[in-house]
Amino acid sequence: MPDTSTPFYLTTPIYYVNARPHIGHTYTTVVSDAIARRRRLLGQDVWFLTGTDEHGQKIERSAEKAGIAPQQFTDQVSAEFRGLWDQMGLTYDDYIRTTEERHKRGVHKLWNVLKERGYLYKGTYTGQYCVWDELYVEAGPGAACPDCGRITETVSEENYFFKLSAFENRLLELYAEQPGLIQPETRRNEVLAFVRGGLRDLSVSRTSFKWGIPVPGDESHVIYVWLDALANYITALGYGSEDESAFHKYWPAQLHIIGKEISRFHCVYWPAFLMAAGLPLPTAVVAHGWLLFEQSKMSKSRGNIVRSETILAVLGADALRYFLLREIVFGQDGSFSFDALVQRYNADLANGLGNLVSRTLAMIEKYFSGVIPEASAAESIQAAAEQCIQTFGERFDALDFSRALESAWALVAVIDGYISEQAPWKLAKQADAGDEASREQLKTVLAACAEAIRVLTALVYPVLPEAAAKIWTQLGLGDLHQADLKDLHWGGLQPGARLGALGPVFPRADKDAAERMQAMEQDNARNAAAQAAETAPASPTTPQSVPAPVDQSISHPNLESGPVPVSPATALATPPEQTADASLPLGAFMPGLGAMEDAAIVGQITTPAMVETANVNDAPAAARPDAVPQITIDDFLKVELRVAQILVAERVPKADKLLRLEVDLGYEQRQILAGIAETYAPESLVGRKVVIVANLAPRKLRGFESNGMVVAASLGEHGKPSLAGFLDHVEIGARLK
Ligand code: ME8
Ligand code: MG
Repeated sequence: MPDTSTPFYLTTPIYYVNARPHIGHTYTTVVSDAIARRRRLLGQDVWFLTGTDEHGQKIERSAEKAGIAPQQFTDQVSAEFRGLWDQMGLTYDDYIRTTEERHKRGVHKLWNVLKERGYLYKGTYTGQYCVWDELYVEAGPGAACPDCGRITETVSEENYFFKLSAFENRLLELYAEQPGLIQPETRRNEVLAFVRGGLRDLSVSRTSFKWGIPVPGDESHVIYVWLDALANYITALGYGSEDESAFHKYWPAQLHIIGKEISRFHCVYWPAFLMAAGLPLPTAVVAHGWLLFEQSKMSKSRGNIVRSETILAVLGADALRYFLLREIVFGQDGSFSFDALVQRYNADLANGLGNLVSRTLAMIEKYFSGVIPEASAAESIQAAAEQCIQTFGERFDALDFSRALESAWALVAVIDGYISEQAPWKLAKQADAGDEASREQLKTVLAACAEAIRVLTALVYPVLPEAAAKIWTQLGLGDLHQADLKDLHWGGLQPGARLGALGPVFPRADKDAAERMQAMEQDNARNAAAQAAETAPASPTTPQSVPAPVDQSISHPNLESGPVPVSPATALATPPEQTADASLPLGAFMPGLGAMEDAAIVGQITTPAMVETANVNDAPAAARPDAVPQITIDDFLKVELRVAQILVAERVPKADKLLRLEVDLGYEQRQILAGIAETYAPESLVGRKVVIVANLAPRKLRGFESNGMVVAASLGEHGKPSLAGFLDHVEIGARLK
């Protein structure tokens, strides 16, 4: 049993409101809800927080795309998240929105404390600047802008930095002293490797857009959205308000539950911010895996989402909760399918628990007029139930939900077996014929089954709250929420007590339930696509949302002009004015695929932007450096180019040029070795979107397998790499063609 004497503060990530919730978000929130419910049942003082992350460029753009003001947009989407949690009966104690005043006040306080304690400085940042995007780019002089591919300018400008570098050793000490801080072990190892690779100061203000919390006293800057977002965990408790009592009571959090892709922010930045502010650190950050659908990570950007609403309409909230906690091994990736959902529902809930409850209670109704009979001992059932209390608890409290439920369903099987073996219907016949021993045995069997069901119901309540409450009243125990189950043990049912009104708990799902849900989701996807088609043309910032037909893109004038090398100096002089199809930055074909031996980048790609720049400046066209034969569109389409986001970047020992990257394609993550270490600092790459060749055969470089290549321009005679990127917002996984 966990220590339940101290307050238990539990959080989910705050979800971005750029898109509506799907069952990936539901997964995290349901897991947290189940933990909160169990802890409350054990008598612990729980505070369960969820909410929405509403600032930043991504949201600003989504609002723009929807054609409404950011505040109105975030109000709408945030209400959808909250509405869904309410529809599902989730028991969050507070719902924080980062656009709320209470949050902004708290963020301001945190900022001021960090500043006073000397961890923020306004550096005169000397580095690369993209005039077109008004964007700082962490790269060497002459590098291309990661967003638009235009050559950046070297400038000096003021920017706020957080002294993250000062925390390298302190973080490593922390991880050593508090090994349970990052769970599971795989995530812990990743974070350790990242920090050991060295930490650079972190830019924590932005001036290139407005939708954020202004830096106190320097309103031209907005606070970096992750500093803003992470602070929710304390601002929601009143940090920075007149009344900080909840903060003092509940902070530090016992448990931050997150998806694995945001471990870095929660395990490196967040502890560093807290240490810098002199605040206590959370007890544990636990990262779960991804819900996959149709073989890839369920995500808005891939469009392979399933909405919770569909499942709620057909099978109800408990069915979804049960599936998520039973089918997916917590910490690992797991697949969702409608068939598996319906199968689990019918096998475990309708035929399993539901059937056990209804036949047991129906027999008590029939043979004892609905009154719990007086019983003598039923040792085997009692022992199995007591074992289950123990095992279920241990597994659940270790966050091993799947195996906890497995042990509960093992008890279902034991009770089922006991009923078959004892055959109470035969005992009843014999009792009717006047056999008193059979009557006594019948009482014992049904009383034991009812008691075992009571124990089972109390155990599974955190996962199946609606069903458990129903069973509880059917057992004649009244309102489950009023029950004191701190010390659950055998023997709670009182002989002589009356059952409540009986009725089915889990009606069987019909054969076409899966198909119906699938059809509902397809309808929804079509409606969403139709809506997107309506709004997209109106938006000047999202030309990529209307994909150009292949033929059209191939006849793009820039493609015909061919690659023209441009000297960085001329490119900087006059930023191009025209907007002609900046959404096609990779229209040019890349010769030399795979030519470099120790690097996973391709040479010589020239973006249309560069070509335009050359034309604007009337630069003399140099001789085409490494012409290759013409190819057909079919040849080109053999190359699978996709947008990927860099999650991890680190140097490869004894290889000066190589970085080991882990990139997210939305539907999968993979490792790529890239020969860009001389130009790009690893830290500057994390979070950046790049273009990769996704269907390149894997190969080994310095002992690491590389699965794909990162695309970059090769500049100057030394072939200095400059990563390809986009001017517009692009979704991870999007194909370039
Ligand atoms: O990252 N499988 O918000 P977000 C499992 N605002 N979990 C999934 C999932 C999937 N396919 N898809 C989403 C953000 N999730 C930031 C967080 S916290 C201070 C700021 C869940 O809307 C999972 O918990 O992208 C993941 O970490 C979270 O939603 C990401 O939500
Ligand atoms: Mg995300």
